[in-house]
Amino acid sequence: MHVKDQVVVVTGGGNGIGEALCRRFHLEGARAVVVADLDADAARRVAAAVDGMSVVCDVAREADVRALATAATKAYGKIDLFCSNAGIFLEGGLEAPDADWDRIFAVNFKAHLYAARAVLPEMIAQGGGYLLQVVSAAGLLTQIGSALYATSKHAALALAEWIAIEYGDQGIKVSAVCPQGVRTRMLLGEQSERNSFLKAGSVSPEEVAEAVIAGLAAEQFLILPHPEVAIYFQRKAADYDRWLRGMRRLRAKVVGSAGVDGSD
Ligand SMILES: NC(=O)c1ccc[n+]([C@@H]2O[C@H](COP(=O)([O-])OP(=O)(O)OC[C@H]3O[C@@H](n4cnc5c(N)ncnc54)[C@H](O)[C@@H]3O)[C@@H](O)[C@H]2O)c1
Repeated sequence: MHVKDQVVVVTGGGNGIGEALCRRFHLEGARAVVVADLDADAARRVAAAVDGMSVVCDVAREADVRALATAATKAYGKIDLFCSNAGIFLEGGLEAPDADWDRIFAVNFKAHLYAARAVLPEMIAQGGGYLLQVVSAAGLLTQIGSALYATSKHAALALAEWIAIEYGDQGIKVSAVCPQGVRTRMLLGEQSERNSFLKAGSVSPEEVAEAVIAGLAAEQFLILPHPEVAIYFQRKAADYDRWLRGMRRLRAKVVGSAGVDGSD
């Protein structure tokens, strides 16, 4: 897909990767960019910069996602490309409270389900459409220090694959963007002390947008702003046990360097 003349919706479009996508889609000549975010001011600011429409939306609420799809369709007649980008990061393992598990699965996984439910029937009726799911390398590999993030992103990737298989013959295209560290509030903010090892190889949100434009043009399922993730994924598939041993060594290094559990 070339974004020129397309109607595009981006959730979490008010900051970070979503903002970079909105700005790049506008530069590519999108007919309309709908900027959806929980943060009304951020959505308005980005929408003004891309001559688009802002919609306040909590993607964890199905009614909000449906209202977003309705508002975009009412304003521009259809949706060609829906980008489920909004996501959150929470640290935690088995001990994390159920409220955290519910919240992260609602935002990082169920939002993708709600989006697909909201837009697929019209996309199929209009002869096709495109879902761009911003997942994470954590969906292919794992996330040291956060079972919450790792599992919610695996679920998001599994749903993206499933939709690509189930609806591909009806003209529905799907891409999953799986970056490692990206220099946004999520990586640079206070939640991310244990993620400092990801900062070293991090890319800018604009570099992610560049990879997305190339991936959409190629209509490629997996979009990897960090190409080395493909090698890690191949190594995991080729020898799972070896990969697990390597990840344990990485965990020990990360936990050790952050002094998180006092093991050093
Ligand atoms: N930053 C990274 O290192 C990194 C790496 C891999 C994947 N990702 C993924 O990229 C996506 C975007 O992350 P980012 O780094 O740009 O984060 P960010 O925190 O900079 O921006 C996220 C945006 O989403 C909005 N948002 C959060 N919850 C929402 C909700 N329930 N409904 C609507 N909007 C909501 C926020 O208000 C914010 O504007 C996420 O899915 C994230 O998991 C980020």
